[in-house]
Amino acid sequence: VDKKLLVKSVRNLPTPSPVLLKIGEVVQDPDSSADDITDVLRLDPALVSKVLKLANSAYVGLPRTVSSLQNAVVILGNKRIHSLVLSSELLNSIKVKKNSSISLNRFWVHSVITALVAESIAKSLRRYEIADEHEIFAGAMIHDIGKLVIAQLSPDEIKMAYEKAASEKKPFYLSEEPEIDHTVMGEYLADYWCFPPNLLSIIRNHHNPGISKEHILAVSIVHMSDITAHVLGYPLFTDEISPGVDNDAIAVVGLPLEQYRIIAENAISDKKKVDALVGMFGDK
Ligand SMILES: [Fe+2]
Ligand SMILES: [Fe+2]
Repeated sequence: VDKKLLVKSVRNLPTPSPVLLKIGEVVQDPDSSADDITDVLRLDPALVSKVLKLANSAYVGLPRTVSSLQNAVVILGNKRIHSLVLSSELLNSIKVKKNSSISLNRFWVHSVITALVAESIAKSLRRYEIADEHEIFAGAMIHDIGKLVIAQLSPDEIKMAYEKAASEKKPFYLSEEPEIDHTVMGEYLADYWCFPPNLLSIIRNHHNPGISKEHILAVSIVHMSDITAHVLGYPLFTDEISPGVDNDAIAVVGLPLEQYRIIAENAISDKKKVDALVGMFGDK
């Protein structure tokens, strides 16, 4: 495969919608209210139904039905809506062919489990005010977006890396072509979509948190959550060898190792919650 050509072809993928960019602006403005974000969401009926569906889902777990967009926004909060809309729009911009070597369902499950675990780790650290759980959720949700990019642009690349990983009994990411692996390709797409730098760092460095110069905590949390998802039995490919744990990430997050399993099992114990998110993201 021509690496330069592959990188260039990221520019042929869909671009972010104006509504998504506008939501980003609204959330950045410290004076913005729930009404401001409601006004922008209204411009995109597909997003309106997504947000309503989510507010009524087991992910939120409310006893009453939420029927107005305004209420849904108040319940979910601007930052959470932003992180959910941002990650779902990016992930759904890639239409992977049915016969690709990636199982989309496994992809959604791996991403959602990683995101729920990451969100819980961030929450458990929150008393120190150092990790934003919404940003971390979005970052974890899209950490492997590069795999979808490659599956779309050059499906053979995924198949070759997977077969190499299986025959050499190595983690998938160590069997990919350098310079066009899923962390590089994912970062290209997210950068093309003008994603904030912390999300770019997560995508680029989630297998090597030690080399990340910035956003080290966010990258380390997603690194630990990704591995936790593998260890708990939710890898992308069947019989995939789990990536190794980075010692720097363990030190940065600072939780005892046995805590990860406890946090993760709590975060994903409600199967309906997991299914609701898989349904929302996997919905085409
Ligand atoms: Fe990855
Ligand atoms: Fe992953």
